[in-house]
Amino acid sequence: MENRTPPDPRLLRNRSRLGHKIRYALTHPGRVVPHLRRAGRDGWLRLKHRGSHVAFYRAVMASDTARSPEAAVGGVPSHARWLAIGQMQYDYLAGHGLRPEDRMLEIGCGNLRAGWRFIEHLEPGHYYGIDISPDILIEAKKTLVRYGLQRKVPYLTPVENLKLDFLPDSWFTVVHAHSVFSHSPLHVIDECLAHAGRVLAPGGFFDFTYDRTEGHEHHVLGEDFYYRTETLVRLAEKHGLTAHVMDDWERLPHGQSKLRLRHPAPTA
Ligand SMILES: C[S@@+](CC[C@H](N)C(=O)[O-])C[C@H]1O[C@@H](n2cnc3c(N)ncnc32)[C@H](O)[C@@H]1O
Repeated sequence: MENRTPPDPRLLRNRSRLGHKIRYALTHPGRVVPHLRRAGRDGWLRLKHRGSHVAFYRAVMASDTARSPEAAVGGVPSHARWLAIGQMQYDYLAGHGLRPEDRMLEIGCGNLRAGWRFIEHLEPGHYYGIDISPDILIEAKKTLVRYGLQRKVPYLTPVENLKLDFLPDSWFTVVHAHSVFSHSPLHVIDECLAHAGRVLAPGGFFDFTYDRTEGHEHHVLGEDFYYRTETLVRLAEKHGLTAHVMDDWERLPHGQSKLRLRHPAPTA
């Protein structure tokens, strides 16, 4: 007989529902005013950048970065947390195949929370970071200087979209996007997956994290998006990539899930 463990109740939560919001407000009263302030700001920014999620989110990043670059990429203004999440990403990737000779593309590199560690590990010129936010890329340059990584000559480039059209075919052996699709509507992920296969080298892999739900897919304030794994696996397949759930990532104290995409293995 099939032995199915019931899903973690956190994976069934729909954070966009009024009932959830009321329960959350009652159990976390200190977060109500900051949430309302954020909702007000986001409402205004959404109006101003109607029709473009990327323009909206770029404005969110500009506002958050002005307040605290570390909180802008991590949600909380804590240097210890910034270091810990960067270390977690680095340790995981170093333990799952990242070699100094890899050519790495980091999508949504932020202020190099993990990126500085990748840059330090990789050979000079082998790291390419892209982000929609010029403000956070200026902070990324400060991180580079702080860690004395100029000699590694990483590329840091602002982007309008995820078509990746300025990058060469079959170039990157590792593509990494941490906590980016958790802030992306499906059409943005679709665009990324439609083009990632072109820049991914044969034998290379593309790891990304996402906020997983086992219930209804939903979003909060147009900023945090929750997807079912099968939605993203199907999207990858639609674009000719195979997807593998990285189970051991789930054991880390992070909260998001991780998928690894590859080109299908060549048939004999
Ligand atoms: C939560 S932060 C994480 C940053 C970095 N990956 C890290 O782990 O520190 C999300 C980053 O993704 C960027 N971003 C969001 N949507 C993006 C998109 N469609 N294309 C490129 N970057 C994006 C944001 O500007 C932000 O820097």
